[in-house]
Amino acid sequence: MPIKTIITGLQPSGDLHIGNYVGALQQILEFQSKFDCFLFVADLHAMTVPYEAKVLRQRVRDVVRMFLAVGVNPEKCLIFVQSQVPQHAELAWILGTQLPIAELERMTQYKEKSDQKKAVSVGLFNYPVLMAADILLYQVDAVPVGQDQVQHVELSRTLARKFNNQFGNTFKLPEVLLKKEGARILGTDGKSKMSKSLGNTIGLLDSPEDVRKKVRKAVVHPPRPESFEGKRPITIFEWHDQQFASASTRTLSQQCHVENRNCEAYKELVAKNISGLLAPIQKKYQDIVNRGDDWLLRYLNASAEVARARAERTMEMVRARAGLR
Ligand code: TYM
Repeated sequence: MPIKTIITGLQPSGDLHIGNYVGALQQILEFQSKFDCFLFVADLHAMTVPYEAKVLRQRVRDVVRMFLAVGVNPEKCLIFVQSQVPQHAELAWILGTQLPIAELERMTQYKEKSDQKKAVSVGLFNYPVLMAADILLYQVDAVPVGQDQVQHVELSRTLARKFNNQFGNTFKLPEVLLKKEGARILGTDGKSKMSKSLGNTIGLLDSPEDVRKKVRKAVVHPPRPESFEGKRPITIFEWHDQQFASASTRTLSQQCHVENRNCEAYKELVAKNISGLLAPIQKKYQDIVNRGDDWLLRYLNASAEVARARAERTMEMVRARAGLR
């Protein structure tokens, strides 16, 4: 089936990083002109771990600014905030009633996030059901995400199938859209995926000096991970070499990777190129910050209204089929 509509969401959990940019945002930039596109800030998901209200409120706005700064065009892609569309929570409840607990217990991200925690919230457990609701509400064809979210998108297909079988055809089954390379960017530690909570990120707002420090410390030759599901994880260096392919990049990269020499010069080049990519994004971000909050909040109120209307079309069907009307 040809793709016509896509949706993706990002959590407002601190500054976005290169992993988010490559795994999700670059796909939106590529597809926004071709497809009907929805992009939202997953603030309800961000509440599933301890947080401060004031910080969350600020981060939601910061993430929207970052969407615009990286080049998401709000004329082409509707940017909205999840919690401003109550249908997400409503559908999550309904879908949750159809899902055996065991299906959620085997979710990798839940296992990782709840590991060694004394108290795990019901919200964290239900997280993938809310994510299924996010996706199914908009009857999308595809969901561009990084590798770590694939299992969740698959669960949304399972839930759609269950509901359709039980109550009649209601939901479209969405496909996953993954980058060929870059669906899983490793952090600067070279061990785990780049993730804010692991402190191994290069942030989109990092200064050239910070980028340089982080790249200099970053592991160039991490031991190959023994096993992984799905796409092969790549280091920021491998990503860099594809993103900035040129003869000089190739030579220096080869020297460092193969002959284990000139790694300092190679890292300088990598840092310079990454900062060069980030500079216009940071400039635009600052311009947007300087415009203040008023227009941003007006935009978000208007876009939430559009999203609610779209979501409500699905919910009317869902409520009627499920016997709630
Ligand atoms: P989040 O906020 O953790 O990440 C946002 C997006 O960035 C991708 N990503 C990465 N890609 C490659 N390498 C990495 N190191 C890396 N780190 C993050 C993620 O895969 C994701 O695409 N649950 C989601 C948010 C969400 C959502 C949705 C996504 C809520 N509802 C509905 C799609 C559809 C999350 O926590 O992503």
